[in-house]
Amino acid sequence: TYVVLDNCIKCKYTDCVEVCPVDCFHEGPNFLVIDPDECIDCTLCEPECPAEAIVPEDDVPEGQEAFIELNAELARTWPVITTRKDPLPDAEEWDGKPDKLKYLER
Ligand code: SF4
Ligand code: F3S
Repeated sequence: TYVVLDNCIKCKYTDCVEVCPVDCFHEGPNFLVIDPDECIDCTLCEPECPAEAIVPEDDVPEGQEAFIELNAELARTWPVITTRKDPLPDAEEWDGKPDKLKYLER
């Protein structure tokens, strides 16, 4: 399965949702997650993210392992998103900032 990581938080570009053939992206206030039960590992979303926030589960960097379970957990309650929308207003400014997990809104 593919996993959305830290750098999506406060950016939420949403380019990823347009390419997913099985609609596995779920949307929260300032972050998106992938439903691991739906993802078919098609690889299409990874290059679409301007923030490079999507990786295969096996490539999750050290220190971000919690995002595997976080994607699964939040996908259970957040609604599916399939249409691209504007990024969050300060997306460019937040792109690349470290340790954004503390800003996650549920
Ligand atoms: Fe969707 Fe494919 Fe990305 Fe999985 S790898 S979330 S199936 S686009
Ligand atoms: Fe987030 Fe990248 Fe998608 S910033 S919303 S994972 S395009």
